[in-house]
Amino acid sequence: MHLEQVAGMEWLSPDVIRMVLKSERLVSSAKPGQFLNVRCGDSYRAYLRRPISICDVNRESGTADIVFQVRGAGTELLAGVKPGEFVDVMGPLGNPFKPVQPGGSMVVVGGGIGSFPLLLLLRTMPEVRRKALLGFRSHEAVVLEEAFASNSERLEIATDDGSHGQAGFATNLLERCLEQEKPDCVYVCGPLPMMKAAVGICMHHDVAVQVSMEQRMGCGVGACLVCACKTRDGEGFAYTHVCREGPVFDGREIVFD
Ligand SMILES: Cc1cc2nc3c(=O)[nH]c(=O)nc-3n(C[C@H](O)[C@H](O)[C@H](O)COP(=O)(O)OP(=O)(O)OC[C@H]3O[C@@H](n4cnc5c(N)ncnc54)[C@H](O)[C@@H]3O)c2cc1C
Ligand code: FES
Repeated sequence: MHLEQVAGMEWLSPDVIRMVLKSERLVSSAKPGQFLNVRCGDSYRAYLRRPISICDVNRESGTADIVFQVRGAGTELLAGVKPGEFVDVMGPLGNPFKPVQPGGSMVVVGGGIGSFPLLLLLRTMPEVRRKALLGFRSHEAVVLEEAFASNSERLEIATDDGSHGQAGFATNLLERCLEQEKPDCVYVCGPLPMMKAAVGICMHHDVAVQVSMEQRMGCGVGACLVCACKTRDGEGFAYTHVCREGPVFDGREIVFD
């Protein structure tokens, strides 16, 4: 466990906040796809830690960002932390995304809060041709647009109601993208139905796909099985810890029920 000092808090939308942590430790150790298991407060309302992805790191300022949506008790308490205070985090935890070779090409597909871990992934692969396809509910929910635009050669956004970018889902953008080109790898993070659809599209086009699973968690280190997800095992399936074996998996390994 580590106490990290909060250097800044910034609302990016009515319910999404960026927490900037002053931490050389995180800057030097965090890999894209990894997460922190964050203690949100002393209250019984948020007894368990909450997993939040590392969204970005900044070597010049020695800071690491987590970006989270206020959903329930835990994230509500976390949003109330003030700059200068300390948060208790475990991590970086979990297995990171596997990179594409320099000179290759990649596409990231993010849905809502699932977009956040993909920013660090793009930032760490400047020598790869990068396309970002993001889906949000509506214009109001679109966050980090500039950061994604400046860390990719092309950014496309879809909103469910068409109020920003194209009307539809990020998976519609992916379908169109793969009809035109075959990247070396597609990286997906978002709600389960979206990841299931994205993996199906990638398999149809015979393109490698990695997914980051956002399962609910307890301990975060492989001790409680709260985070189990089904993965292929021969002809059948097995239960796998998302916290320890994931959160990043080869998309073809996941059994999406
Ligand atoms: C590896 C990993 C990385 C994550 N990274 C981020 C991130 O970068 N930013 C971010 O905003 N969120 C992220 N999440 C999701 C985040 O952990 C949950 O939103 C958070 O735990 C909710 O806690 P809460 O106490 O505020 O809400 P709760 O009171 O626990 O739940 C509120 C509502 O959210 C739903 N919910 C809670 N957790 C999840 C979950 N894991 N998946 C789907 N629905 C859930 C509940 O069913 C409920 O409806 C990540 C999850 C995982 C597993
Ligand atoms: S969260 Fe406890 S085993 Fe994964």
